[in-house]
Amino acid sequence: MVRKVTKAVFPVAGLGTRFLPATKSIPKEIMTLVDRPLIQYAIDEARAAGIEEFIFVTSRGKGALEDYFDHAHELENTLHKAGKNDLLELLRQTNMDSGAIAYVRQHKAMGLGHAVWCARRLIGDEPFAVVLTDDVVMGEPPCLQQMIEAHAETGGSMVATMEVPLDKTKSYGVLDIEEDMGAIVKVRGMVEKPKENPPSNLAVIGRYILAPSVMENLNKLKQGAGGEIQLTDAIADEIEEGRDVFGLRFRGQRYDCGSKAGFLQATVAFGLDRDDLREEFAEYLHDVLAMRKAAE
Ligand code: G1P
Repeated sequence: MVRKVTKAVFPVAGLGTRFLPATKSIPKEIMTLVDRPLIQYAIDEARAAGIEEFIFVTSRGKGALEDYFDHAHELENTLHKAGKNDLLELLRQTNMDSGAIAYVRQHKAMGLGHAVWCARRLIGDEPFAVVLTDDVVMGEPPCLQQMIEAHAETGGSMVATMEVPLDKTKSYGVLDIEEDMGAIVKVRGMVEKPKENPPSNLAVIGRYILAPSVMENLNKLKQGAGGEIQLTDAIADEIEEGRDVFGLRFRGQRYDCGSKAGFLQATVAFGLDRDDLREEFAEYLHDVLAMRKAAE
């Protein structure tokens, strides 16, 4: 039987230089899509997938991120007294149970694989999820839940994957496919950011369910693409050692909120998805586009 996945690692140590000057004083994970910080999207997705323990790999300057999960008693009292129950409920959704969150520090920026490895003692000997907060996925059921359900059938390790244009593969981990079964693909190899000859156009996006042995592979602290310790390489080692790795073509739309263009696209998509904003926002977008067209 496949063991239940209850722990997730959130590597949030990155400096977010692509969003300077905003990230001079706020962690990029606190940047807001509509009215919720990126980290809240990641947490909600993980919770929906049955995750109970949330492990953040942080670094200097991420204090605001840690504070975000504290209960805001004063604010809650004020809202309670004012009878603002809808806001109170919204706020309570951000609360985390005592002991559900752990923080480990990544002392040096040595790559995604290294960040995940920093959580090894908290993971122990069980399968775990990794969620990259830059990748926001709109999907129903949420992407990680789709993966947990698929993983319950396949076991092994699993990455979320989507097709990208071939000339974009150099920005991603890319799958070499052994067998394409439709929604699920069996993986023969993985290459991090191939400069040339990508093995396919199936890119890894930031959702993983990993066997604990991936941590052992990370123990080697092998340098990969860009001189960094790559998670992709540690997952590829699983295959070398005879363990199964699968890709799941998830249902949904992924937004790269690590880039400005992606963040703007996500803002539009999530804005249009909201019942309280849709009408006014759609009308505005429509007018903007019409004006642009008229001006051409
Ligand atoms: C990371 C991973 C890469 C993956 C990507 C998805 O890269 O290393 O394999 O395809 O996330 O967003 P990054 O974008 O952090 O450079």
